[in-house]
Amino acid sequence: MPTEFISIASANTQLVLDVKIGARPRILYWGSVLKTAEAEELKLLHQRQWVHGGAGVDIHSSLSNELGAGKAGASGFLAHRNGLDWAAVFKVVAVEQTSEGRVRIKCEDQNLKLKVDYDLSIDPFSDVLEASTEITNCSDRELELDWCASICMPLDQRLDRIVGFTGRWAFEFSQEDVELFRGSYVRENKNGRTSHDNFPGLLVKSKFTGEEQGIAAGFHLGWSGNNRVRADKNADQCSFVQMGEMFFPGEMKLAANECYKTPVLYAAWSENGLNGVSQQFHKHVRNSVLDGRIRDRVRPVHYNTWEAVYFDHSEEKLMTLAQKASEIGVERFVLDDGWFGSRRSDKSGLGDWDVSLDVYERGLQPLADKVRNLGMEFGIWFEPEMVNPDSDLYRKHPDWVLEAPGVEQVPFRDQYVLNLTIPEVSDYLFDKMSHTVDALNVAYVKWDMNRELHHPGSAGRGSVHEQTKAVYALMRRLRDAHPQLEIESCASGGGRTDYGVLRHTDRIWTSDSNDALDRQRIQKGASYFFPLDIMGAHIGPKHCHITGRVFSIEYRAATAIFGHMGLELNLLSEEVDELEVIKKAIEIYKSHRELLHAGELHRVESPDYLNVINVVAPDQSEALMSCAKLDSYATSLPERVRFAGLKPEMKYRVQLIWPGGEISRTGPSIVERADLMGKGSVFSGEALMKHGLQLPETFPDMCLIFKVKSE
Ligand code: GLA
Repeated sequence: MPTEFISIASANTQLVLDVKIGARPRILYWGSVLKTAEAEELKLLHQRQWVHGGAGVDIHSSLSNELGAGKAGASGFLAHRNGLDWAAVFKVVAVEQTSEGRVRIKCEDQNLKLKVDYDLSIDPFSDVLEASTEITNCSDRELELDWCASICMPLDQRLDRIVGFTGRWAFEFSQEDVELFRGSYVRENKNGRTSHDNFPGLLVKSKFTGEEQGIAAGFHLGWSGNNRVRADKNADQCSFVQMGEMFFPGEMKLAANECYKTPVLYAAWSENGLNGVSQQFHKHVRNSVLDGRIRDRVRPVHYNTWEAVYFDHSEEKLMTLAQKASEIGVERFVLDDGWFGSRRSDKSGLGDWDVSLDVYERGLQPLADKVRNLGMEFGIWFEPEMVNPDSDLYRKHPDWVLEAPGVEQVPFRDQYVLNLTIPEVSDYLFDKMSHTVDALNVAYVKWDMNRELHHPGSAGRGSVHEQTKAVYALMRRLRDAHPQLEIESCASGGGRTDYGVLRHTDRIWTSDSNDALDRQRIQKGASYFFPLDIMGAHIGPKHCHITGRVFSIEYRAATAIFGHMGLELNLLSEEVDELEVIKKAIEIYKSHRELLHAGELHRVESPDYLNVINVVAPDQSEALMSCAKLDSYATSLPERVRFAGLKPEMKYRVQLIWPGGEISRTGPSIVERADLMGKGSVFSGEALMKHGLQLPETFPDMCLIFKVKSE
């Protein structure tokens, strides 16, 4: 390939760029690997015509669509020096390809004295593209950076439908479909965390794309602070996706020789529908984003104390709960909020990370030992970044919080945000957490964050960027000091769920809602970007505390099996037969977690009243399919459900492994005819995928789990 062009590729995906020295770099192609097409051809085919009313030259796109180039539409780079020096033009000065899949494109604006390095790579294992930009201010005069997208990704013109992700507390990852119109689709998040309502991820698809077929792409910004997501379709028929950090006014200033590196934009291209996008993202999370030390560990069954006891702790009660939990198969016991300082409600005590001797007269050692003697790991809750004004820490250090001078704090769960960019603050938190981990031999920390950042000022200056980096650094420091420690990212449920935080943590608390019906939708939404192994999914109480709905134990348990399973209910008040069902569900989870956590996930297209997820082993020898009936339907029988991802020529034994007992009100159905609850029946993969299986008629709010195993 002539030096004018560069191509990076994995076995399935390729990116071709025009990187002529002295010109602005641009993407010519991103898609499946080209077999014969040459870069020169692409360049020529890219040629656009001069039209009346347009510029006298063809202004092509570039990786930042910077203002000086005059390209129509939203720029990916906005900066100035005291109102001057805004017309940037980044031209290639060198290209460094370090492997088949990785390149650094070095650019400069000699006029404005800026250096720009673009890092692009396609992962050989997952096919996911990672892109980021680094800006260096080479002038003595300070540069004020208002916006720097990780990259401007041009969109294939067929990809004109967006799936955006929004939601709220206890209902994360809700999808919205928008047809890309001439103009801008923009989501801005200034919550100071990834947020419940503006998840920095987008899917784009064509009119013909579905879960299993058609072209699609997915984009996600790996960052837990403020962010902006936009997709623009310009009048000149060019569309771009941009994601980046959103700064407070004046937040990002670069002095001489200082540089700023954007968060990574992750992008996946698929010709196999949205499932293809998700499968790449899942592989990438498992192999590149998560820390290697957890890769080969199984995900233990959790017991979390929150919805069982809230703040009403006592050593005796928790020991009895631990006993019960271990009897039914729990492997990790996580002591939630309420164990420290004056924390008898959410109104006080945050920041005082010493065991409350008012509640635990003997400290926590006896409970932690008991948990371990029962054969479980001991985990504990922290909310390190926060402080209640009613705490010893705040009384001693009222100046340790983020604030805007002269502006009243916005009330939010009676807590303020500690300024982790002050080294003493991070040191204090590290010492407290590290000491607790050592003293109690803690295997797992649930790291919570329960308020938004409204006035994130440090010395008056907006500082979400620095605060987010300081949070990551504290996580890293804790993990480095305790290499076996696992950390869960929680922010009032799934408010801090992104690949940035997953580089420092091992699991997410997907949502505070343990309502099985809502969880079916939330976990499906999250599955577009996140694999089941990192998605905390707990069996909650029969009467859901957040929605007030009542669901059977079978439905709640099936929903938790398709994630990283846990329990979060009072085992002392559950009926004995419910405990038996939970025990059975835990056994099913344990014997299938390797499949669920390494398998390929297929969302099976189905009517709105169903949610069907099929997880297939990498060698296609087995699968587990969850069919949740979310609602009633207006037909006498539900639809046939097709399996996905199997080998057509392979023979599979199909069994219905969940729930047990009577599931069909009428009969006989396929369940009896094919003896699905007994030894099952054998079908070809082709029949299961092309014809599908007639679902039995059941009540709504029921989840059937089918097991498929090659003969
Ligand atoms: C947040 C979390 C919950 C629980 C409480 C404790 O809401 O999401 O799971 O830990 O805090 O205060």
